[in-house]
Amino acid sequence: MLAELLPALIAEVELATKLLASAPRVCILTGAGISAESGIPTFRDNQTGLWENYRAEDLATPEAFARDPELVWSWYQWRRQLVADKKPNPAHDALAQWQYHAQSSHQQVTLITQNVDDLHEQAGSDVIHLHGNLWGNRCSQCDTSYQNQSRRTFDSASTLSFDEELINCSRCDGYIRPDIVWFGEALPVQAWQTAEEAAANCDVFISIGTSSLVYPAAELSQLAKQNGAKIIEINPSPTPNTIVDITLAEKAGVIMPLLVEQITKL
Ligand code: APR
Repeated sequence: MLAELLPALIAEVELATKLLASAPRVCILTGAGISAESGIPTFRDNQTGLWENYRAEDLATPEAFARDPELVWSWYQWRRQLVADKKPNPAHDALAQWQYHAQSSHQQVTLITQNVDDLHEQAGSDVIHLHGNLWGNRCSQCDTSYQNQSRRTFDSASTLSFDEELINCSRCDGYIRPDIVWFGEALPVQAWQTAEEAAANCDVFISIGTSSLVYPAAELSQLAKQNGAKIIEINPSPTPNTIVDITLAEKAGVIMPLLVEQITKL
């Protein structure tokens, strides 16, 4: 499979393998690009169908929900429907396999994601979510948690409710909102602390499928670099990020299985 890649990319994969094989602590940050091959559009992709005239950045905000809760709620119900039947792709599977292997090789592989889908979990990974969970809800006023959209309690996506009608909190009557970190909102404290610690203490930081435009998640690679880590980026359209040491300009679903196959056989 390695032979199918361009020679320059093969050289970069080999360099990355060497670096990763001797790294005691690896920190990985994934973004929407890792789920693209599972059929979930990325954030910077244009939206389609009913939502083609809206930008994700204009809907995923507390201001948008305050202005038009029905609109934002129905957008999330639509996104839930879009994601409900999606399955992990070879990149998610390879990461889960690497984490499993790392338990016996005593390598520390911390996986952090900006994604709100649960494809890493479905693949079997242990993952820290920085931006929340598409299947969770909470009250927009009193914060009461409502996990009734959690698909892990259902056997099949067809039993989920994608009703677009707003739901009221049984405690305070406020509107229920998705349990997602919107633009301008703070990240969950514990998740961010763990992510910062893993980034600051890693030997290699890998950024997979993220445009690195959204802060504070984009700070993690900088933190790793400042503390002496090497930075690897996996993205078919590499970012102009100057701190990257190794660029693997290919789809995550192509690179990750190759990389993990090499690392786990060493
Ligand atoms: N493999 C790897 N990378 C890919 C692939 C693929 N198959 N397909 C696309 N990409 C890359 C794109 O080139 C782009 O750089 O994935 C990146 C996706 O970027 P964004 O859509 O900006 O997603 P992300 O970086 O995760 O966005 C961060 O922004 O909207 C908020 O909270 C939301 O978590 C999200 C955050």
